[in-house]
Amino acid sequence: MRLRTNSKRFNCLTSVLTLHQKAPMNPQLIEQALDKFNVASIGHFPTILEPLPRLTQHCGAAGLYVKRDDCSGLAFGGNKVRQLSYYLGDAIAHGADTILITGAVQSNYVRCTAAAAAKLGMTCHVQLEERVSKENHAYNHSGNVLLDYLFGATVTRYPHGEDEAGADASLESLANAYKEQGRKPYVIHLSMGHKPFGALGYVDAARELLVQIAEQSLSIDRIVVASGSGHTHAGLLTGLRLANSSIEVIGACVRRQASLQQPRVLTLCGEAERLLQIDSVVTSADVICDDSCLAPGYGKLGAEALDALKHAARLEGMVVDPVYTAKSLACAMAVATVAESNTLFLHTGGTPAIFGYEDELTAALA
Ligand SMILES: Cc1ncc(COP(=O)(O)O)c(C=O)c1O
Repeated sequence: MRLRTNSKRFNCLTSVLTLHQKAPMNPQLIEQALDKFNVASIGHFPTILEPLPRLTQHCGAAGLYVKRDDCSGLAFGGNKVRQLSYYLGDAIAHGADTILITGAVQSNYVRCTAAAAAKLGMTCHVQLEERVSKENHAYNHSGNVLLDYLFGATVTRYPHGEDEAGADASLESLANAYKEQGRKPYVIHLSMGHKPFGALGYVDAARELLVQIAEQSLSIDRIVVASGSGHTHAGLLTGLRLANSSIEVIGACVRRQASLQQPRVLTLCGEAERLLQIDSVVTSADVICDDSCLAPGYGKLGAEALDALKHAARLEGMVVDPVYTAKSLACAMAVATVAESNTLFLHTGGTPAIFGYEDELTAALA
């Protein structure tokens, strides 16, 4: 199911505002709002923004561009580097020496946290949840799992997959055990209702992107991004609207259907606005979720995703991952194919997971 805004009405409204009262686009408003937060310097920014000429031609699209957040520097990069910059800035400000995080077995978040903790001289405890029922060796030991161990994290398992509150409660009890040993733990929560520091990383990415678009004299009308926990989607949208940009953000659902993801992302936008101490800038109509490439479910490759994964590799030499970015690229390609103006695919990384899917990919490529 797609959940889209009534774009005709929206365009009409935008042009009325353009004629009469639309405030000028201003990325500095983002800089000012983020000024009060502590940020850990762990990544390489800005990430590049470039065209995808051969994929554009393949889709018969007006224009398909990519922002390469898969190249954000730390430990194979990805969107989690920007998110962690704000969580770890907060952790350092609180005197933390131990970071705890939970995620799927092939979690990119967990891998980046283990790497960032190593870089900052902190201890890291990662909890791997059984979200995808896979018995195979590569999924359980290669890709991100191998890297978690390489970065020196303590790894424990959590036997459930769709239990965000339970996974967080388990992290809290691990954190208490660290406290009893005299350590200062900091928990990065999975469930809703906690300060969305991760979203701030993408509020800042919106600033970076708007500056690049202006520098390159580009016209981008929409961005397609994977929407899982929703922090990337919510942060990017909040940043764009705060800077008075009306670029559409389409969240490609990778975890849950659009009817569940849309209110989740809207709630996160509200929480991000409160954390930033700004007036509300995101409306419900701004939050667009598209679950047309979600099947057959989280962590499972569908036909469109596999097609996108192959074409990205064979036409652009670009790797997308089976869990997140193959699905968001498939969505971006579908959207760009019918759009009359330029579309930007935000590549959020995840590439080490490709080695955890060796069996499926080898079979699919044979
Ligand atoms: C590679 C990659 N892309 C996208 C996402 C989704 O980002 P978010 O959780 O902020 O919605 C994730 C989340 O784990 C990810 O690892």
